[in-house]
Amino acid sequence: MVERALRIVVTRRVPEPALEVLRAAGETWVSPHDRPLEAVELHGAVAGADAVVALLHDRIDDGFLDAAGEQLAVVANVAVGYDNVDLAACARRGVVVTNTPGVLTDATADLAIALVLMATRRLGEGERLVRSGTPWSWHMFFQLGTGIQGKTLGIVGLGQIGRATARRARALGMRIVYSGRRRADAETEAQLEAVHLSLDELLATADVVSLHCPLTPETRHLVDASALTRMKPAAFLINTTRGPVVDEAALVDALRDGVIAGAGLDVYEHEPAVHPGLLELENIVLLPHLGSATVETRTAMAVLAARNVVAVLGGEKPLTPVTG
Ligand code: DGY
Repeated sequence: MVERALRIVVTRRVPEPALEVLRAAGETWVSPHDRPLEAVELHGAVAGADAVVALLHDRIDDGFLDAAGEQLAVVANVAVGYDNVDLAACARRGVVVTNTPGVLTDATADLAIALVLMATRRLGEGERLVRSGTPWSWHMFFQLGTGIQGKTLGIVGLGQIGRATARRARALGMRIVYSGRRRADAETEAQLEAVHLSLDELLATADVVSLHCPLTPETRHLVDASALTRMKPAAFLINTTRGPVVDEAALVDALRDGVIAGAGLDVYEHEPAVHPGLLELENIVLLPHLGSATVETRTAMAVLAARNVVAVLGGEKPLTPVTG
């Protein structure tokens, strides 16, 4: 019997070192389009695949799994978040799902802190002012922001990225409070001098609230109109996790009405679309999902996903499984 070559599908271009790892493991097809595939294209592309390297914009659901076929062994998501994957549907069919935790922790925490500084110091406004050619001169009251030293950072979800963000904030002189489903261990709390609070207490206490929880049915619109009114009027909201954790329409109202002072977003509820109301506001910094966007990090993410594929196709345990 002639053994068929393993078929690996990569839904959008990834860094070359990852492709080298994949090509050594099987016939590797990479989407030629530099855009997310439409569902119909995606389903056509994955037909007969043994492994799929997927990106966070690919919807991995029953339709996808039906189209792929019974031989599909693994979906390696090139992201730490996996809200695009129907885990139950994959589990029902014995398809292993992997993600890429760890390798993007520092890059994402760096970006969260960049947003804290951009929002509190009004750096986006400053940049827009200079680029617009508007005349300006230094004076004592010119574009004053808010200092963060001695202020409290409220971390919602003290996982790897939340902790890395907290460490950076500590170095900048901030105090840490956090909320989340699980209480951190005593050593982590001691290292960060972090105080565990309920979400309500955190919202009422923090000068900056930074979201690091995954998107789940429980965290969808965790920050809604009511949560925003529980924040201090001088507080800032930072979101580097997933857009739907925040009710964007409610955020527009809160920023416009002075319910909170400002915000910094890297992710959007209907990404890549941005609520038009947000675009009109000066007191928000808007970035295009750049959390993990460094050459080093994206390469490490893709290589980790590729190594997960190789492990599963080779009958080994995946390095970073979500399920399986
Ligand atoms: C992730 O890995 O989930 C990030 O959002 C990618 O930047």
